[in-house]
Amino acid sequence: MNVCRSKKLLSVLFTFSVSISFAQRNQIIPIETQHNVIALQVGNDLRVSTAYFGTKLKDTSEYRFVRQMYRRGDDYSGILNSAYTPAGSRNLVEPAIEVRHANGNTSLDLYFVSSAVEKTDANVSVTNILLRDSAYALEVSLFFKVYYKEDVVEQWTVIRNKEKGNVTLQKYASANLYLTGDQYWLKQFHGDWAKEMQPEVTRLTAGIKVLDTKLGTRAHLYQPPTFMVSLDKPATEDEGKVLLGQLEWSGNFKVDLEVDPLNNLRLIAGINPFASEYTLKPNQQFETPAFVFTFSDKGTGEASRNLHRWARNYKLYDGKGDRMTLLNNWEATFFNFDEPILAGLLKDTKKLGVDLFLLDDGWFGNNYPRNNDRAGLGDWQENVKKLPHGVGFLVREAENNGVKFGIWVEPEMVNPKSDLYLKHPEWVIKQPNRQEHLYRNQLVLDLSNPKVQNFVFGILDTLFTKNPNLAFIKWDCNAVIYNAYSSFLEKQSHLYVDYVKGLYNVLDRVRAKYPKVEMMLCSGGGGRVDYGALKYFNEFWLSDNTDPLERVFIQYEYSYFYPAISHSNHVTDWGKQPLKYRTDVAMMGKLGFDIVVSKLSPKDLEFAQKAVKTYDSIKTIIWQGDMYRLADPRENPYASVMYVNELKDKAVMFNYITSNRYGAGSLSPIKLKGLDPAKKYKIREINIYQESRFGNGSNNSYSGDYLMTVGYNPGVNSNRMSVVLQIEEAK
Ligand code: DGJ
Repeated sequence: MNVCRSKKLLSVLFTFSVSISFAQRNQIIPIETQHNVIALQVGNDLRVSTAYFGTKLKDTSEYRFVRQMYRRGDDYSGILNSAYTPAGSRNLVEPAIEVRHANGNTSLDLYFVSSAVEKTDANVSVTNILLRDSAYALEVSLFFKVYYKEDVVEQWTVIRNKEKGNVTLQKYASANLYLTGDQYWLKQFHGDWAKEMQPEVTRLTAGIKVLDTKLGTRAHLYQPPTFMVSLDKPATEDEGKVLLGQLEWSGNFKVDLEVDPLNNLRLIAGINPFASEYTLKPNQQFETPAFVFTFSDKGTGEASRNLHRWARNYKLYDGKGDRMTLLNNWEATFFNFDEPILAGLLKDTKKLGVDLFLLDDGWFGNNYPRNNDRAGLGDWQENVKKLPHGVGFLVREAENNGVKFGIWVEPEMVNPKSDLYLKHPEWVIKQPNRQEHLYRNQLVLDLSNPKVQNFVFGILDTLFTKNPNLAFIKWDCNAVIYNAYSSFLEKQSHLYVDYVKGLYNVLDRVRAKYPKVEMMLCSGGGGRVDYGALKYFNEFWLSDNTDPLERVFIQYEYSYFYPAISHSNHVTDWGKQPLKYRTDVAMMGKLGFDIVVSKLSPKDLEFAQKAVKTYDSIKTIIWQGDMYRLADPRENPYASVMYVNELKDKAVMFNYITSNRYGAGSLSPIKLKGLDPAKKYKIREINIYQESRFGNGSNNSYSGDYLMTVGYNPGVNSNRMSVVLQIEEAK
């Protein structure tokens, strides 16, 4: 920019800034949910900062006093609590945004221009705060979408390049929160294949704790984008101030948790800037994905229920809708099946009483048949040896048996042993002059390329066009990105971001054309679970680990963030527990089976058939009810979770022994939650295995007050390993 032009710009900005009145300069912008607020303040210097975050006050004008009450030292920069911290000017800490202007300059300072609130309806509104740099034609809009009743906020930004040349975004976070407490306690999760959602609680100390991933596709394999932060002390289920948050993004993310010199917590969440500088041409803009969070001063239980309600009402695909129970053949057959075997499994589906048969991996590939995981990915034509009459025959056969048919795909991937790989090597993400490195013998297709997006959409479109009655898709994703390089992109640093945008583009098209089909999000277990993806998917596969004991723990941790209706839980042969235990655990979500039905003993078969019916009678409570975690298996030798319907006249309580120590069990009553203290309830054990030596409940009725104050003992122990109780208002 020449000197003349830059002087002109500065004078325009100066004229603009003096035109902002005193009232606008010192205004508080309260972004309020039912119980909480982010109170932003426009300073006299027009910088926007966080005046207060937390439980809301009755008088909004009092937020301006809050910061004065803290005497924790000096903020030399004056912008430690910036609502969106720019790098390169007076900032001294972790920035939320870092850019390189067209002329190579790397400074940024953002000032208030205007704010507006748009109401979508009585519950949802969006606050938009426009900021502009004082020296460069760069704008940022901060968006806060408020779900009032649910106490949930989605926060994102739009960054606009109004300069004459390209601007490079080096960091472009979605949210920059500023929390105040005496101490900060982080509960984070880590994992790997079959070990998803391992929790760890630590106190945050001065400096920065980073949660991030750089895996690209199966991005959440080691680290999911979900976490919680408690203020002052670790929150419990019913007590404490706690924020539950996640970035709605199915790729690389980064969350910086910085305890600053004033002992406040700066929380910056967004796309991971690692290898991801993003260039904006003149007049282009970049919209960051949303960071969603809820805050509660009544502990993690309330926070989870808020998030669940929000997910069901607004985010999870068809969150209020129905779901199909199913029989899946993955563990029953792996790759070894053919038409007669599948015809038998379709009969078994009917016999079991579930709604749908889900055909898993192994149905495609001819030159490179998919008989194991070393070949065939990419060649989505039915294998003529295994399925001589095609998928259409199976869909019809399912119909003849009175069940629906679903199918597995992994459309983003390719095996080097495939026709696709030979035909389109340029569609594969790999470095041109380096040796390929495979993950599960496969590579990732370059979804930043629109031609690849069309190909991936085409896989689904062809399946549905040929088989309009196909009712279910399991969308798998088993590889991470190694050797990140796209032969399509001009700027390699766009790959990680454009990959996810490409994926969402395909999913948008799939959903626009096939709104009714149920879709399960799977990634070799829970390697990719976030609300960015769940906008398109009805449910997700939590883990390939279906050992029911492990599963009690994994489901418990996922339950902090995702409602039961989104949990795909299958009864399999993993683990040593009896069928009843395995089934009870799988019922705490969307029930499915992955067992060889024909090998079940008559008693087990009878139990499973009855269990499907029992599940049908209680599934609405589990799917749409409020969830209460009653006993954490990490703190007790048992776990207990209950679901209560909206009218509080029906509830289901699941109880499991989780220790094999001598005498372990529920020795004392477990306090129920969420009931109406004034109502009387009958308690009845359901889903009983026929050989059970125990009765199915007493004739007593108990008040909600009694059950929530004294509790009820489900009597779980090594003989009664899992107990499901139905609690119904006694009328
Ligand atoms: C990984 C999934 O998690 C499994 O359920 C199964 O679909 C396999 N992939 C198939 O390859």
